[in-house]
Amino acid sequence: MNDVPLIDIRNATVFRGSTRVFRHFNLSIPQHEPVAILGPNGSGKTTLLKLINREIYPVLDDSASVRILGRDRWNVWELRSHIGIVSHDLQANYKNDVTGLDVVLSGFLSSIGVHGLLADRISVSHKDKAFEILEELDATELAARKLKHMSTGQQRRCVLARALVHEPDTLILDEPTAGLDLAAAFDYLERVRKLSAAGRNIVLVSHSLNEIPLEIDRVILLRDGQIVADGPKARVLTEDKLYETFGTRVRVAIIDGYYLAYPAAAKSDVRVVD
Ligand SMILES: Nc1ncnc2c1ncn2[C@@H]1O[C@H](COP(=O)(O)OP(=O)(O)OP(=O)(O)O)[C@@H](O)[C@H]1O
Ligand SMILES: [Mg+2]
Repeated sequence: MNDVPLIDIRNATVFRGSTRVFRHFNLSIPQHEPVAILGPNGSGKTTLLKLINREIYPVLDDSASVRILGRDRWNVWELRSHIGIVSHDLQANYKNDVTGLDVVLSGFLSSIGVHGLLADRISVSHKDKAFEILEELDATELAARKLKHMSTGQQRRCVLARALVHEPDTLILDEPTAGLDLAAAFDYLERVRKLSAAGRNIVLVSHSLNEIPLEIDRVILLRDGQIVADGPKARVLTEDKLYETFGTRVRVAIIDGYYLAYPAAAKSDVRVVD
């Protein structure tokens, strides 16, 4: 099973409502290759993640397939131990009076919250695991705190912990730092780097070049549901390809291996990528 791709999408046409987001879309991501997906608002990034996470399906067509680890069909429980998704949708769906611990525990149930009957299915070992993960993320103090009394960054950490309870091999992060201040964003990215160093594969969706961890070399640029470029950072994050993707002229600098985009009109003496 080691050489089957993590994600193998072939000839997929995907609608959200009446919008056709992808048309005959193809993408393959190996199991142990960290990837960043960049693209403007509405380019299809979240739709792609939902496709991977089995929340939406392509239009039925004999030549279309979405395979995860070589399989067309998955039950949600099994899939969670391979792929953990962290998204805003998830964070937004929680009621504000749930606690940090509830959020983490809900990962075991693939549910939002652990109320009512579902609470009966939570065992002591689930709780132990939840605390272990919260401790790993330096967030034990969030266990008893209500979500409504947390900052966005703290809430985000709980949602990350939720995805980690199944110890998934791959973490898929949809704009993990959106809405976080500089310190919280860099702290979050540092945690992602540690998870990557500990052997988890990372698929990161972002708008910001400078948030691509050094560990990720493969970058996919998406525009209007189409792949504009796909390859190593050095070949993909060029001014021309970013222009093609985002429709605005930017300059690109590399600082300590991090890429930085800034307005084309700016004058600067930092190294510029051609
Ligand atoms: N529930 C929905 N119903 C109808 N159209 C939708 C729905 N969700 C998304 N779309 C449309 O699908 C397209 C792709 O949206 P998607 O959310 O995948 O973009 P994105 O790249 O994640 O954007 P952003 O950077 O703003 O998060 C957009 O044109 C969007 O308007
Ligand atoms: Mg999105």
